Amino acid sequence: MFGEIAAGDWFMLIVRWVHAIGAVTWIGGSAFFAFVLRPVEKANPDLVQPVLRSIGQVYRELVDISVIAIIVSGLVLMFDRLTGDDASPGWFIVLGVKLALALWMFYLVWDFRQTDFRPSDNPTGLAARLSWLVGYNAMVFLGVVVFLLASLMRVLYETTSSS
Ligand code: HEM
Repeated sequence: MFGEIAAGDWFMLIVRWVHAIGAVTWIGGSAFFAFVLRPVEKANPDLVQPVLRSIGQVYRELVDISVIAIIVSGLVLMFDRLTGDDASPGWFIVLGVKLALALWMFYLVWDFRQTDFRPSDNPTGLAARLSWLVGYNAMVFLGVVVFLLASLMRVLYETTSSS
């Protein structure tokens, strides 16, 4: 049963697993920051802010590891598909959009680092709207869209390779 799976397929299974775990860790962590820690911080700033700083430092390392794992495994997945000869034009288009969004997410991480993981402390008016767009909410939003695109790529690939 398992003996029928070639060594290369086992390798790609591990790579796909690393990619998915990295993505879940990053987006899940960002969602926890955006939808749990931030509201709690807003309600109890004096209590939470000192703790949040320490959490941010540890979280930063987790994000670093996840992003490196995602990039390395993502490139391996991409080259595996490209050498397989079954990638359709639709697959390439979705890959292009996914890569563009992934780059935007990597840029957001870099940008957060410049502001010490605090996209905006107390934004109001236009600043509040921009903060929504460029802050953690945007990271989570882009992340879930990228998840959807990854599933679409898989369906597109399987449809072409089985026909
Ligand atoms: C350097 C950037 C990236 C590259 C080159 C890349 C490439 C790929 C490729 C080629 C696949 C396989 C698609 C298929 O089945 O045909 C894939 C799957 C996937 N990607 Fe990415 N990706 C990148 C970044 C990301 C990011 C930032 C996320 C989410 C935060 C993400 C989430 C996923 C998920 C969830 C899958 C599905 C894994 C599975 O099938 O179990 N990727 N990626």
